[in-house]
Amino acid sequence: MPDLKVLLSRETIAKRVAEMGAEIARDFRGQSIIFVGVLKGAAVFLSDLARQVPLEATFDFIGVSSYGDRPTAKEDPAGHARWDSLGEVRLTKDMDQSLADRNVILVEDILDTGLTLNYISKLVEAHQPRSLRIAALLDKPSRRKQPIQAHYIGFTIPDAFVVGYGLDYAEKYRNLPDICVLENL
Ligand code: IMP
Repeated sequence: MPDLKVLLSRETIAKRVAEMGAEIARDFRGQSIIFVGVLKGAAVFLSDLARQVPLEATFDFIGVSSYGDRPTAKEDPAGHARWDSLGEVRLTKDMDQSLADRNVILVEDILDTGLTLNYISKLVEAHQPRSLRIAALLDKPSRRKQPIQAHYIGFTIPDAFVVGYGLDYAEKYRNLPDICVLENL
């Protein structure tokens, strides 16, 4: 059985998410924004963060597959999936609306190698938004392969595999209220 060790408690997370919300509210005072969450991991963070931002706001979601089973392009002859040039990220759900001239806050659970956010940022930028900012709850800078940075970062953490508060291992543990390190896999 894997061990779970609390890295960030629910209280610590809530305090930091409130600070991030206040920062976004300050930066976009008097304007409306759209939160674009990266499924599925960012769903919990987005719902908490958005409720800390007292501005006119709407939601959208984008789906990508990253960790876990990754079919190769060859296994997808129907062409339903799109791949980036490195073949690392697959789009499973596009945005529902145009982001043209919108203030977009791209919400992600964790910034690891940067491949996912690099891919999604390019997709969003193609919509020609008024502004694009990235809010990542966690950042593992030591693992970065693409030089991408978030504007709003909750916590910088060491290179450990974490679960909880939306983050999964094989789709499990997303509902843990704390963020835990998963050991002895
Ligand atoms: P990146 O493309 O390498 O930056 O990875 C981003 C995605 O990888 C996140 O959205 C997560 O789904 C997943 N990921 C990266 N590190 C972890 C982790 O420690 N626990 C759970 N998922 C992770």
